[in-house]
Amino acid sequence: MAMAEVSARHLLEIAGLDDRDLGWLLDRACALSAGAQPAVLDRTVVNLFFEPSTRTRVSFELAASRLGMRVINVELERSSSVKGESLEDTAATLAAMGAHALILRHPETGRCHRLAAELAVDLHLLNAGDGSGHHPSQALLDAATLVASGIRLEGARIAVIGDLLHSRVARSVMALFPRLGAAEIRVAGPAQLVPDSLPAGVSRVDTLDEVVQAADVIMMLRIQHERMDRHAWPDVASYHAQWGLQERHLDLAGSGCRVLHPGPINRGVEISNAVADGSRSLILEQVRMGVFARMAIFEWLFAADG
Ligand code: NCD
Repeated sequence: MAMAEVSARHLLEIAGLDDRDLGWLLDRACALSAGAQPAVLDRTVVNLFFEPSTRTRVSFELAASRLGMRVINVELERSSSVKGESLEDTAATLAAMGAHALILRHPETGRCHRLAAELAVDLHLLNAGDGSGHHPSQALLDAATLVASGIRLEGARIAVIGDLLHSRVARSVMALFPRLGAAEIRVAGPAQLVPDSLPAGVSRVDTLDEVVQAADVIMMLRIQHERMDRHAWPDVASYHAQWGLQERHLDLAGSGCRVLHPGPINRGVEISNAVADGSRSLILEQVRMGVFARMAIFEWLFAADG
């Protein structure tokens, strides 16, 4: 298997990947989805999710099992973390039992980076989402979905809409897509849910009509209620009226425009049924490609072991 030389031992965020890694991961995800033979990896990985998850956890699990790996899902309510064990001690304990990688989802922003910095044992870390921080495998699968669907990222106009302030997906996407040649990334959402400072190359507009204008890719985001005070929750009906993606918005977008959403989707809030289930939607394709993207990520991660 042709593989770029890799040095990173963890996947914490997009910025930790060099251009060769990025190119390799996307090519490999697409090749695997087109039927390429996966590697067989004699490795054990542990899913440690301190936040709810359906697709990400199952996707990592399926990806690992398609590579012949052993997967352990730690049931947190029955784990020693409820007895006060630190994450560092949990990681060391799992490594001592022979785990090779930890797939971590945590509500605290930066927790995966902090664990990586303090880790005294030989264990790979995959960041499956840290608070409002990063979600690199989601951004990679988003890009792989577009490439596999025949969308050129070079020169693409991308619109990202909704709760950008709390979205680790948006942060990772804004780090990834400019590096893949996107011509423009425009964002829009309620004033209190769009951060004041945006990465270079990302611009903010004020309305949904404006942000979708001529877009090749529209990415919708869920309101991250779990990261806000209850009194700050937007009212669902007025949110949908102002920020919910409906079919009429697609007429303003580019002719081949496709719609992404990392899920879970909230129908009738950020997206209408007609769009979620319509012909422009790649939402289930993202889920399908997620497994291949994560297979590629595992192959890349363990290739660093030599
Ligand atoms: C996202 C997440 O958890 O950050 N979901 C996912 O991983 N597919 C987005 C979200 O929860 O809204």
